[in-house]
Amino acid sequence: MELKHQILRILEENRGNTVNGAKLANELYVTRSAVWKAMKALQKDGYHITAVTNKGYCLLSQNDIISAESIRPYLKGEAIDFELDVRQQVTSTNTLAKEMAANGAREGTVLIATEQTQGRGRMGRNFYSPQSSGIYFSIILRPKLNLEDSLLITTAAAVAVAQAIEAVAGVKAEIKWVNDIFVGEKKVCGILTEASLNFESGSLEYAIVGIGINIETRDFPEEIKQVAGSIFEEKPVDSPITSVLVAEVLNNMAKCMNSITDKEYLEAYRSRSFLINKDIIVIKGKETVNAKAIDIDEKARLVVAYEDGRIEALNSGEVSVRAIK
Ligand code: BTN
Repeated sequence: MELKHQILRILEENRGNTVNGAKLANELYVTRSAVWKAMKALQKDGYHITAVTNKGYCLLSQNDIISAESIRPYLKGEAIDFELDVRQQVTSTNTLAKEMAANGAREGTVLIATEQTQGRGRMGRNFYSPQSSGIYFSIILRPKLNLEDSLLITTAAAVAVAQAIEAVAGVKAEIKWVNDIFVGEKKVCGILTEASLNFESGSLEYAIVGIGINIETRDFPEEIKQVAGSIFEEKPVDSPITSVLVAEVLNNMAKCMNSITDKEYLEAYRSRSFLINKDIIVIKGKETVNAKAIDIDEKARLVVAYEDGRIEALNSGEVSVRAIK
């Protein structure tokens, strides 16, 4: 690992505290002048590092540059083994992660970006991904699942994100089936799960779980202005909140994936349902049908009751909440 990254790792682990320059040099088997040069390079990259004579270097708490080093200290459990690849601007983390997976990238590879120029949503829509006000990332998973159980990955991801938002932002997060996350009446996160299937074995080759969270995004495009929101009005400046949030999602995701077929997370999903007991519109191709959402079943399907009394469990598709007239 390049010296600059080794130093950044140590500074991130001691964020807000002073790290002695001589000790750093000793620990990394380099000269103090090499440490000084690496600090200068980090400052040039935009890191707020203060140097205090006879004391050492300090990465200020309000530093907000996302890196593998800034996320890693917050990883727990099996997520510790995740491989983090952080970039500033990409086309779409899902598109790139798919290429990486097809080229053999291992399970637990996570591609994270602070901006996407071609962010993709469900149903071929765009996902608004402006620079630095949100975070956009894709996780490569290779679970041994049959096709039916593969659909649960997206349910698990919704729970992982909702719980992380609640822990980090201190707000109540609801899940609009299948996997949009709402805070209040606003969608703050979208999840796009894409998979490659092995038709011969009838199993999943890999899945890409793409997550886009609006952290403090404002000025949404006209067409989503009414429904889109962010988890913070303004994010706190004195902590690495974005890094903590990504780590928390990864920690939860690793945990949920362990129990994917036990479906322990289903209760957490149900209890956050944005739809249960609401009057909704089920969109089936060009047709729309009025219904009431009544449950999420054991296969994570949305159970709806139509006005003519028919009950149906929906596997996938799109629904919207009916406006009260
Ligand atoms: C939706 O709301 O329809 C799903 C949006 C998913 C957006 C995320 S952002 C990271 C990943 N990369 C993409 O291009 N899309 C997903």
